[in-house]
Amino acid sequence: MIRLRHATKTFPVGGGLTVLRGVDLDIRANEYVGILGASGSGKSTLLYILGLLDRPTTGTLHFRDRDMSTLSDDQLSEIRGQTIGFIFQAFHLIPQLSVIENVELPLFYQHRPPRVRRRRARRCLEQVQLLHRIDHMPPQLSGGECQRTAIARALVTDPDLVLADEPTGNLDSKTGSEIFDIFANLHAQGRTFVVITHDPAIANRIPRIVRISDGRIEEDVSR
Ligand SMILES: Nc1ncnc2c1ncn2[C@@H]1O[C@H](COP(=O)(O)OP(=O)(O)O)[C@@H](O)[C@H]1O
Ligand SMILES: [Mg+2]
Repeated sequence: MIRLRHATKTFPVGGGLTVLRGVDLDIRANEYVGILGASGSGKSTLLYILGLLDRPTTGTLHFRDRDMSTLSDDQLSEIRGQTIGFIFQAFHLIPQLSVIENVELPLFYQHRPPRVRRRRARRCLEQVQLLHRIDHMPPQLSGGECQRTAIARALVTDPDLVLADEPTGNLDSKTGSEIFDIFANLHAQGRTFVVITHDPAIANRIPRIVRISDGRIEEDVSR
């Protein structure tokens, strides 16, 4: 699904801050990959490049055998909207919208009719076991419920690839473990997952672990 070759990333700060230093990474459809590494090692930068939110400074990214460097930002964002779902540590819900309205939002931007939006949003909220909260507002939810809402929102466009950046960083370990139960179920249903985590107990449950150190892949093990 993804083929990243010799990717570097340098941010134009100071004399140039190099954060990725030659990363090769292949991700096949239906894989479940965990990314581990110290804070500042380049994990989020790598995830954003895999998710077409950013581009490598040098090197190439092929997504489904297509060279992404030849596409415009608009073309990238169209591919992103149709095939990739994102989950972040800070849930980024809109507090003035109800749970189901938050989940529907990506479909609203895709100009889907209201009945389609409702139906798909309900189905995704069912998958994260949150149907009983659909009319609640985000400030009324627990942290785990906020993240489950954000997961439903990431799934509502039926993405092939789901990327999560420390999705349990704001949650206690039991709630975090429940979030990863949901990921395991979704992976079993055939989605491709790439998840950044720094929790070793959670990393133990992920079938492939890529360890990043100072902008390089230090280890890539499957079990
Ligand atoms: N947009 C940016 N502009 C400048 N520096 C950045 C930017 N994004 C990340 N960095 C820097 O790149 C380094 C790696 O960041 P990041 O990929 O977020 O690491 P991690 O997710 O592993 O903690 C950090 O030093 C960070 O400050
Ligand atoms: Mg990060």
